[in-house]
Amino acid sequence: MPTTRDLLNELEARRNRVLEMGGPARVEKQHQSGKLTARERIALLFDPGTFQELGLFAAPPDDPDGTKFPSDGVVVGCGAVNGRLTFVAAQDFTVGGGAVGAMHAQKICDVMEQALRCGAPFIQINDSGGARIQEGVDALHGYGHIFRINTLLSGVVPQISIIAGPCAGGAAYSPALTDFVIMVAKEAKMFITGPEVVKAATGQEITAEELGGATVATDFSGVAHFMAQNDEDAIRISKRLLSFLPQSNSADPPRSAETEALEFAPDPFLDEVIPDNPRAPYNVLDVIVRLVDGGDFLEVQARYARNIVVGFGRIGGRSVGIIANQPSVLAGALDINSSDKASRFILFCDAMNIPLVTLVDVPGFLPGIEQEHGGIIRHGAKMLYAYGAATVPKMTIILRKAYGGAFLAMCGKAMGADRVFAWPTAEIAVMGAEGAVRILYKKELDEAADADALRTEKREEYRRQHASPYVAAGHGQVDAVIMPRDTREYLLFALEALHTKRELRPARKHGTMPL
Ligand code: HXC
Repeated sequence: MPTTRDLLNELEARRNRVLEMGGPARVEKQHQSGKLTARERIALLFDPGTFQELGLFAAPPDDPDGTKFPSDGVVVGCGAVNGRLTFVAAQDFTVGGGAVGAMHAQKICDVMEQALRCGAPFIQINDSGGARIQEGVDALHGYGHIFRINTLLSGVVPQISIIAGPCAGGAAYSPALTDFVIMVAKEAKMFITGPEVVKAATGQEITAEELGGATVATDFSGVAHFMAQNDEDAIRISKRLLSFLPQSNSADPPRSAETEALEFAPDPFLDEVIPDNPRAPYNVLDVIVRLVDGGDFLEVQARYARNIVVGFGRIGGRSVGIIANQPSVLAGALDINSSDKASRFILFCDAMNIPLVTLVDVPGFLPGIEQEHGGIIRHGAKMLYAYGAATVPKMTIILRKAYGGAFLAMCGKAMGADRVFAWPTAEIAVMGAEGAVRILYKKELDEAADADALRTEKREEYRRQHASPYVAAGHGQVDAVIMPRDTREYLLFALEALHTKRELRPARKHGTMPL
């Protein structure tokens, strides 16, 4: 009969055995490849001494003591990240390659369900060879549960995925169902079928990095939102991201006392941003960093569809989601990828009670056969849908061009914007002066002795009579024409006033966004 002391010692021994995970050799291999173990990553994420692990002794049925699969290869639990409750599941590659079996999946699902019940963010750290082949359909079934619960959490609590190793096959769909994907350069790989299968099926030869490395996911496919240099950087990005987000859809984003107290002085720099030549580009990031507290702007998907900029900042200490056309890329025109990027961001902000600030300088939707055949109508419609459906405070600033349907897709007044402010440089019209003059004065231009002079004259006339911000202001579509230097102050006032905004919608199960 064991004594109490024996039982306590047994716990200690079992705990120490499990904490070794895959053993010193595999841990060493993990470190050599520049990666941390699951518990080392968790230690970086949580405030010291706040993490409580759950399911330390979980193991597959055929390995009840967890000799081969300590903790079944995944560390789950909760603790405080910058003082706020957060749930985590981190796969440990040193245990069976972090592969997902039934118990591994159950642990992840359990902690996700806790995040849902407690209304707190969920972070998953992926480093896995995929479904544990030995467990066959049970592993597949486990993935199915994870996907379903990812879907249940969507729009209720923020979900962040860090890809810190392989994440291949159907496994890649769990991160894809979460709100933000952070990929670690060199280590992370995401693809549905690996290089071998690609070669067998198509004859194409490609490396894993070229097929699904961090650059591909952040720059080309848009699957990932951030690229991190290493594990530490990925944790840093996720903490920074969380600092802008509420705990759940039933809470407001945290208000930063530090930046709330900042002075609101006019910023003469903004008066000089727009070039005299209406066709000349400028970098809208220069505007954004002047509008947010302390210039602190976290750009999301900074390397993808760069003709639109989206990201988080604070104004008067309150989190805002910023959506801005980027005139220095494709003249800021909206295309398929930028529409998808912005629509998803708007949906997320709306779900999480984050007010939207939209900066408009858009010449239109990008013309072209590729865009039309690729379904720009369907993709552009997502932006109209996302803005039209959003009930959070919506503030729109028109910096320069605001033409046609693309202006509406950037949250014009008719799309339910609560405030529309225009800079004196704004050109708001059904279409650009160039095209309008070509259509309206085709006959006169064909017959004119000096067509160029007539074109210039008519263009100026069009700008004055139709595209001027004072025309739109006169028609009630612009609330105020403001000095650029005062923009931050106008936004601060609007945010204060709109803080209690409530907008009711007809009851429905859900809308049918054009996807
Ligand atoms: C079981 C696995 C495994 C897996 C790796 N391991 N993947 N065990 N099931 N899916 C084990 C290895 O046997 C090895 O065990 C340990 O993990 C480390 O793997 P290594 O190959 O030594 O590591 P490395 O050389 O770094 O290569 C990593 C890897 C490679 C690229 C991930 O292991 C690999 O290609 N694995 C298979 C990936 C794959 O095809 N997965 C798809 C499964 S089907 P020991 O004991 O030697 O340390 C799938 C469908 C999901 O995922 C569908 C969901 C909807």
